[in-house]
Amino acid sequence: MSGAGDASVSVVALPPWARVSDRRRAHVERAGRLISEWADAMAVIPTERDRWLRAVSMHDALKDAPRELLLELAPRAWDDDSLRHGPAAAVLAEREGEGDRGVLDAVRYHSIGFAGWDDVGRMLYLADYLEPGRRRGRDERARRTALVPENPAGVLREVAAERLGLTIAAGYRLLPETVEFWNGLTCDAS
Ligand SMILES: [Fe+2]
Ligand SMILES: [Fe+2]
Repeated sequence: MSGAGDASVSVVALPPWARVSDRRRAHVERAGRLISEWADAMAVIPTERDRWLRAVSMHDALKDAPRELLLELAPRAWDDDSLRHGPAAAVLAEREGEGDRGVLDAVRYHSIGFAGWDDVGRMLYLADYLEPGRRRGRDERARRTALVPENPAGVLREVAAERLGLTIAAGYRLLPETVEFWNGLTCDAS
């Protein structure tokens, strides 16, 4: 896809409370560019596009934060340190004035999926996985990226199936939220 404009101009404004490395910042920027391209191609209204970009900008904003801060903000977080940054960012975002439930849920559940998502959660899940900086399966990722504007639900099922498959293959448990998310996607397909 094209149309992302000048690559030197940032499309994502990280929140002032972000604690991110340069590497993470680059990932967020790539995901922001991708979601912007999809918003253009799908001709979504500016307020919806803004929701998508806010979710992207906040989803990994605490990924590099100290564990003590993450534990303080998200003490439960499925008892998994690798999943703590999403819920922690949602807590801080709300505290700092973000009032959109869909955006907060997108950020909170971006690592695991959530059956209650509206478009913002689904688009963030896609952009987080399909952004071009990831090494895995470049050709397949490019195919899916191009297909998103015309068939976001179909690509979401493919991406979710792949992510769940990787989780299972690695021997990890599926969280109840993830199972519900998947079951919701399969219901949509029937
Ligand atoms: Fe993340
Ligand atoms: Fe991410």
